[in-house]
Amino acid sequence: DNTMLAPTPPMGWNSWNIFQTNINEPLLKQMVDSYVSSGMKDAGYTYFVLDDGWMAMERDKNGQLVADPKKFPNGMKEFADYVHSKGLKFGIYNCAGTKTCAGYPGTRGHEYEDARLYASWGVDYLKFDWCYAEGMNAREAYKVMSQALKATGRPIVFSLCEWGSHRPWVWGKDDGQLWRTTGDIGPYFDKPVTKNGWTPLTVLNILDRQDSIRQYAGPGHWNDPDMLEVGNGMTVNEDRAHFSLWCMLAAPLMAGNDLGKLSEQTKNILTNKEVIAVDQDALGIEGFRYYAFDGIEIWVKPLTGGDLAVCFLNRSGRAQTLNYDWTAHLINDTTSKTSVDFTQTTFKIRNLWSKKDLGTTQKVFKQPIPNYDVVMVKLSK
Ligand code: GLA
Repeated sequence: DNTMLAPTPPMGWNSWNIFQTNINEPLLKQMVDSYVSSGMKDAGYTYFVLDDGWMAMERDKNGQLVADPKKFPNGMKEFADYVHSKGLKFGIYNCAGTKTCAGYPGTRGHEYEDARLYASWGVDYLKFDWCYAEGMNAREAYKVMSQALKATGRPIVFSLCEWGSHRPWVWGKDDGQLWRTTGDIGPYFDKPVTKNGWTPLTVLNILDRQDSIRQYAGPGHWNDPDMLEVGNGMTVNEDRAHFSLWCMLAAPLMAGNDLGKLSEQTKNILTNKEVIAVDQDALGIEGFRYYAFDGIEIWVKPLTGGDLAVCFLNRSGRAQTLNYDWTAHLINDTTSKTSVDFTQTTFKIRNLWSKKDLGTTQKVFKQPIPNYDVVMVKLSK
């Protein structure tokens, strides 16, 4: 059953956002050690995923993939064993096309042998990309690899990295547990930056593309708005907003920063258990933009037991003070069948970042909110 592999959005760390293909065994073992010592593991992160760049440029004479012998002198099985020995799960990357996006050998035509190889290494998670795939049918390609993974008998989370152009949210849940919804994120909140002729998406670009597909997410099958850029150069406010919003979206939480250089601020964001609990709520409902005024957006995520997470996002370009009358707006979400009338029901308010209780929804809610930051609260009865 697909659902059991990811009843809540997968949480982990992936090498791409910070290191790209500049990965090697000593560096990654240091990441594994920091993952545990920093408290990331205790906060619920489980997967350690190697992205592109782990392979040798050619398959061996038997057609098998091999780890780059310079980067991984002890081979991939030894590395996987190291990850497992620390109580983590091990993930790896390849591509549906003839090559990976960085030009390493792709899986096309080798689906079953590659799946068997991963299973023999103890792989628990496969991210499967969509480069060098001209003329291929995305739905078919992902189905073949999904069947190859299932045929190994090993439970392997399957992450479809097709960037959304073939609407994987419509068909992906038969094959895998998560699918990318957009192109690649960069460590930018609002202003895109072009580097080497390429412009990654900003946090706000990606956020604005999620609302319309939220009905496709749920336990076992998640929209993936791409990995986290927390700790990779945005301001603390922006990092906090990015993380909060991804939790509101029930997004897979794949950290992408240098765990060996984890600042206190970054660590406090990535390991905030009350915010993570919003992401991991068992109902698995993806949040939605409920109301907007003066450049402030209010995102709402229904939680177990009739509770709600509410995230006020300031994208106005200036610091503001919220002055919000809960009772002035009904919540009526047909997708999740949630309706709330704050004149009839009173909720207690807990600020999930300051970790303070802030009275009830009977009173006007007054909170300062810097530009490109959030106020994120949990409402409970
Ligand atoms: C694509 C993916 C990224 C990353 C790179 C690796 O761009 O979307 O997340 O895996 O390929 O080359």
